[in-house]
Amino acid sequence: MAIVFNEITQKIKLSTKNTSYIMEIVKDEFLAHVYWGKKIDDYYGSNKIMYRDRGFSPNIFEEDRTFSLDTLPQEYPQYGNGDYRPCAFQVSNDENSTYNDLRYVRHEILSEKPKILGLPSSYGENIQTLKITMLDKIIGLEVNLYYSVFEDCDVITRRATFKALKNELTLNKMLSASIDFRRDDFDLISLYGAHNNDRNIDRRELTSATYVVESTRGASSMHQSPFLALISKDGNENYGDVYAMQFVYSGSFHSSVHVDQYRNIRMQMGLQPFDSNWILNAGEIFETPEVVLTYSDTGLEKMSSQLHQFVRQHILRGEWKDKPRPTLINNWEATYFDFTEEKLLDLAQEAKDVGIELFVLDDGWFKNRNSDGTSLGDWIVDTKKLPHGVEWLADKINEMGLKFGIWFEPEMISEDSDLYRAHPEYAMQVKNREHIYGRGQFVLDLANNEVCDYVINSISEVLDTGKIDYVKWDMNRHITNIGSLHLNIKNQRETMHRYMLGLYKITDTLVTKYPKILFESCSSGGGRFDLGLLCYMPQTWASDNTDAVCRSKIQYATSYMYPSLVTGSHVSVCPNHQVGRVTPLNTRFNIAMCGNLGYELDLTLLNEGEKAEIKSQVEFYKEVRDLIQFGDYFRLINPFERNEYAVNFVSENQEEVLAIYMKVLSEPAAPFHILKLRGLDENSLYKDYETGEIYSGQELMYAGISIANVKQDFYSRYWYFKKHLPKR
Ligand code: DGJ
Repeated sequence: MAIVFNEITQKIKLSTKNTSYIMEIVKDEFLAHVYWGKKIDDYYGSNKIMYRDRGFSPNIFEEDRTFSLDTLPQEYPQYGNGDYRPCAFQVSNDENSTYNDLRYVRHEILSEKPKILGLPSSYGENIQTLKITMLDKIIGLEVNLYYSVFEDCDVITRRATFKALKNELTLNKMLSASIDFRRDDFDLISLYGAHNNDRNIDRRELTSATYVVESTRGASSMHQSPFLALISKDGNENYGDVYAMQFVYSGSFHSSVHVDQYRNIRMQMGLQPFDSNWILNAGEIFETPEVVLTYSDTGLEKMSSQLHQFVRQHILRGEWKDKPRPTLINNWEATYFDFTEEKLLDLAQEAKDVGIELFVLDDGWFKNRNSDGTSLGDWIVDTKKLPHGVEWLADKINEMGLKFGIWFEPEMISEDSDLYRAHPEYAMQVKNREHIYGRGQFVLDLANNEVCDYVINSISEVLDTGKIDYVKWDMNRHITNIGSLHLNIKNQRETMHRYMLGLYKITDTLVTKYPKILFESCSSGGGRFDLGLLCYMPQTWASDNTDAVCRSKIQYATSYMYPSLVTGSHVSVCPNHQVGRVTPLNTRFNIAMCGNLGYELDLTLLNEGEKAEIKSQVEFYKEVRDLIQFGDYFRLINPFERNEYAVNFVSENQEEVLAIYMKVLSEPAAPFHILKLRGLDENSLYKDYETGEIYSGQELMYAGISIANVKQDFYSRYWYFKKHLPKR
């Protein structure tokens, strides 16, 4: 049983394969957090909550000064009746009172995971869910807390729903999860970045303060990822407690870690409360998105392995869930906006010759789109560039033996577009305010259903041709002018969340209507790499930066949360377009092959030697594709800490192993390093694919492989091993 209630102790225990989560109903009406961590089969209450009269901590009961919500470890804390730490929610009523007093009323154990209306969410068979009902009788607020237990991958998801029982209520803050730890011996890990520098690792000591990781941009963003991890101070890849939270949402979010006066930690995540609220009419319900929680008792590697498994089993869905991803050529860095039919066909032919499987026509194919300042919203072919149209081009490319994919940026509108000339009201805007430009464009008001229908219909017209196998769904600016002409004045602060609901309605409709198409999401690279969009689009372009050195870091940090199966990564030309670096072709490949491999350069300009090299790269990638896309992933050397990078992949049955190594800069008097692999079968022998040499799994993991000291910057190599069965 994943969820058990002990009536005598009033404790509810949630169990996954390796973890337990325990809460307690205190004094019949307060929901306290008791434990989350390594699995405890028989729990009798050794870590009982200690009560004590603490100065300046308010008391609910006059006669009991030891009981204060300010010191009680809680499941869903509120502000107004005693707890001064950050609250999980705040609701005001029609008298503008923000005093909230939710009390536990009852709970149910459901044998399934209820769907969340209009929002992406995880799914699975036989997922038990705990539903806890809490009530503030005075203002007429019902809150239901949902905990769904994914036993197989040691994940619990949490969310909340709000219902106005009698009068209108305003939701000012409505986070999805809050957890109180009775300890503070953690470091905090979060991921930060920028365009072309999408994800970096930040690890910091916690002192007495509140640490906030958030986005107010209308997108989950590459600036701060919707991810937090608390790690034991001495924790690392393979050691220590790790508690991680991740948000299943693609818009603005808020997460925080608060260290209180008694050195307890409160960790929270949910919708961004700043500049946003939601009006609930009597009888209406508001549902928050889901937060994913996972605990590892042995460091970050296990945390990632649990999260990767969760993404693969319970987030991805549909036709492409378990399908190997095709190798692709994308014309963006090869041509930008400047191409002709002939040029594209030449590029496609070269791609076919080196074994690539999918041709992706990027930005610039639609009416008058010769720069990034025009035409978004007019999804009609530019006959000056493509006189025979998209269908004809797709047919030609199919005839060569390649699949055909196309780029859209469906959420945007250019000022210089037929759509804007006909419908200026479709742009998100604040009355009497000038538009703010971002990449020269405005954002469509997806809080308006009519606009959503326009997007669905205009994109469908292209997809209905039946010639499209892949869609790159781009989004290249963040939201300003936050307002909707479609909403009442009173509801203006709902615009950001309503935008996301509109986006999810569009993506849900399109992926359901076109189940065979492989959708890849993109936002100037990995600007919306999140679990929300992964529910609809099973892969994401990780960064616009294709430089091998930068990518090694971006992909390393990305792997904290996401498996390589969902991570798009391409080989591009040198000098690199983002940082100007020149790296060897084999290094560009070795790093790009750690995800879904693509090429994004003008193959027609390469010499025969380079083409031959790419041909053998593609051939090799196809051989190891299942191992990379569906195998287990291990981080070996952290490029944020060293002048080197290394990872290895191991197939599920441990039959195959691929290790990838890069040394960034050559060094004088460099030590000889050894690379210790992980995840192999201890009791088996492995054969080096290149040399034919045989090694034991034990020695590859514990003694390691000697790495040559090569006098070359950006040196890299891989080792591919297959299990070897000795002849008897
Ligand atoms: C940003 C994307 O990240 C790029 O790959 C490319 O598609 C451009 N947009 C096109 O405008």
